[in-house]
Amino acid sequence: MSTTRFLTGITPSGTPHLGNYVGSIRPSVQASRRADVESFYFLADYHALIKIDEPSRIQRSTMEIAASWLAAGLDPKRVTFYRQSDIPEIPELTWLLTCVTSKGLLNRAHAYKAAVDQNTASQQEPEANINAGLFMYPVLMAADILMFNAHQVPVGRDQVQHIEMARDIAQRFNHLYGEHFTLPEAAIEDSVATLPGLDGRKMSKSYDNHIPLFAPRQQLKKLIAGIVTDSRAPGVAKETEGSALFQIYQAFANTEEAAAMRQAFAEGIGWADAKQLLFERIDREIGPMRERYTALMAAPQQMEEILLAGASQARKVATPFTAALRHAVGLRDLRTSTTAAKSDKASKSALPVFKQYRESDGKFYFKLQEPSGRVLLQSAGFASGQEAAKAIALLRQNSASALVDLNPMLRSQSGVSDDEIALALQHMMTAA
Ligand code: TRP
Repeated sequence: MSTTRFLTGITPSGTPHLGNYVGSIRPSVQASRRADVESFYFLADYHALIKIDEPSRIQRSTMEIAASWLAAGLDPKRVTFYRQSDIPEIPELTWLLTCVTSKGLLNRAHAYKAAVDQNTASQQEPEANINAGLFMYPVLMAADILMFNAHQVPVGRDQVQHIEMARDIAQRFNHLYGEHFTLPEAAIEDSVATLPGLDGRKMSKSYDNHIPLFAPRQQLKKLIAGIVTDSRAPGVAKETEGSALFQIYQAFANTEEAAAMRQAFAEGIGWADAKQLLFERIDREIGPMRERYTALMAAPQQMEEILLAGASQARKVATPFTAALRHAVGLRDLRTSTTAAKSDKASKSALPVFKQYRESDGKFYFKLQEPSGRVLLQSAGFASGQEAAKAIALLRQNSASALVDLNPMLRSQSGVSDDEIALALQHMMTAA
């Protein structure tokens, strides 16, 4: 079964609200349970530095967001869940990518252009108060995505351009240095509703119309009571069309519950009663999570351990991959030969080769062997020659992540580190 790798980052710049839950947390947690999906979710704290210069706010938000995802059911055993700043390879890759990114591409980024436009409109210098982090943001984001060779990146529409830029940057790098990166695609969830806020506009921190995801019960009740309605009295029929209250209800209800509420609107349910039903429905889903959230927020030690474990898992990919990328661009151990030029035939003949064979057990095997006869990697038995060939092809295309994906089918040899194998594969790729 081939798995699709999903990756998404959440900038820790605030406290999650119900809109984030419905639009991002809940669908992501659900997707992470699919057997054919491998997910990477991370707290994009380097990104947060672009907008926030209050250290305690970043720390608090990182804690709140991590606790929210975990409380909402994210299983760190299934998902690689980590904090961006625990992966030093990310800023390193950012630099390698920066050097193949044209400045003109970044000039066209929406977020940067919007900041310039706003300055111009308010008659300031075009670049006033724009930090270089904002300008470089798409490259950092490309590094996040490309490091793990993600196939699909679930994002909101506002982020689609950034994914396209990541593709552009990956293509440029691949063109110059060999096929290292998978070209990512944006996965836009159109079926997920954007939740209206208290005033009927999209729920957002910046409109101050939001309901914090884990507001205590009493506050939740009070906030729900503040959702805009009109002055129609109980007994007067109400339509669900355009009703923020109904839309929020629908985001939590199953089909029958939504139908029953529609019926109640038609029959003239009073706003106070409708709000009470909404409160009960939300609290039924969120209540148990709120308890887990409160417990997690009281256990920073436990959360820190979870994030560090996630980082060490992520670095199993990032460290060897970065070593291979460093080599590819020429940041090399001086003791290695300087022959890796693409057209260099001599270097090609010094490269290890894959050998496929069949054993007396009827199974199909391969090994990766150096010209000297030293075996770098030995496979387990595959049921067919085709499967063995497929594994070889994967290793050739995408060494670092294939090494991880195929791990159960591979036996590395004593005295050969994964880094050495990744590097050898990378050499074969650049020479091909
Ligand atoms: N820029 C994203 C946002 O503001 C967060 C983010 C950072 C991200 N790195 C990412 C999302 C990589 C997806 C993939 O929402």
